[in-house]
Amino acid sequence: MNPDRARSFGAAADDYDRLRPAPAPEAVRRLLPGPGAAVLDLGAGTGLLTRALTAAGATDVVAVEPDDAMRGVLATRSPGVRVLAGTAEDVPLPDASVDAVLVASAWHWFDPDRASAEVGRVLRPGGVLGLLWTYWDPAQEWVAELRAIGGLDDQGRAPAVDADFVVDLPEGAPFGPGEPQVFRHAVWMAAADVAAMLGTHSAVLTLPADERAEVDRRAREHVARAVGTDPVRVPFVTAVWRAFRTSG
Ligand SMILES: C[S@@+](CC[C@H](N)C(=O)[O-])C[C@H]1O[C@@H](n2cnc3c(N)ncnc32)[C@H](O)[C@@H]1O
Repeated sequence: MNPDRARSFGAAADDYDRLRPAPAPEAVRRLLPGPGAAVLDLGAGTGLLTRALTAAGATDVVAVEPDDAMRGVLATRSPGVRVLAGTAEDVPLPDASVDAVLVASAWHWFDPDRASAEVGRVLRPGGVLGLLWTYWDPAQEWVAELRAIGGLDDQGRAPAVDADFVVDLPEGAPFGPGEPQVFRHAVWMAAADVAAMLGTHSAVLTLPADERAEVDRRAREHVARAVGTDPVRVPFVTAVWRAFRTSG
């Protein structure tokens, strides 16, 4: 885990919120417990998952996010949701207080030992830990090339595109076996926004300004050349992994 990259997103909070896709609705439904469940959105960012949860019917959602700028956008865009400053390693909630802890595109930035212990502490027995990653589907060649322009395929990437991908929790973490599932979806986006979205990734956000500008130039050129339509149909994957908290 690279701390500079983990905390880089706030510099582009508005663009992040405008350009990044929400998780596939079926993926959210897979993780959401029944009506009235208390749900923690951990590492909630600007609230892409928070909004998807409320749209799916969740009525008791608390969002925890360490970055002031990301949290500010979330609070503005999700006015009915309780929003707290905090981290996955020090969750500002009481023991056994929620039925679900959901983490979208953020688990790989957490300290896995401390975060697993904290999630185990705040979840009620039988509660669900749900991890999601939503990202450009590299199965299409133009997308794979765009990802390469932004250097997205090193640290910080989603665990895998395979339906049977594995998330390893630390030994002794109080969870049953993991259940992975992959959902594919697509979003129509303006060509300029597809290129600009690359700039909301930590691998690009942490580059010096001149290198960032060069990535942006190459991304725009690539999208115009490789796709040639506007708007562009952009394929995404939401990879979901869930495990239930054991009792005791
Ligand atoms: C890629 S963004 C994902 C945001 C949001 N969940 C989403 O799906 O759009 C990663 C988020 O994790 C947050 N983050 C980084 N380290 C964290 C930590 N140790 N505990 C909680 N959140 C963290 C960042 O501030 C950022 O908002």
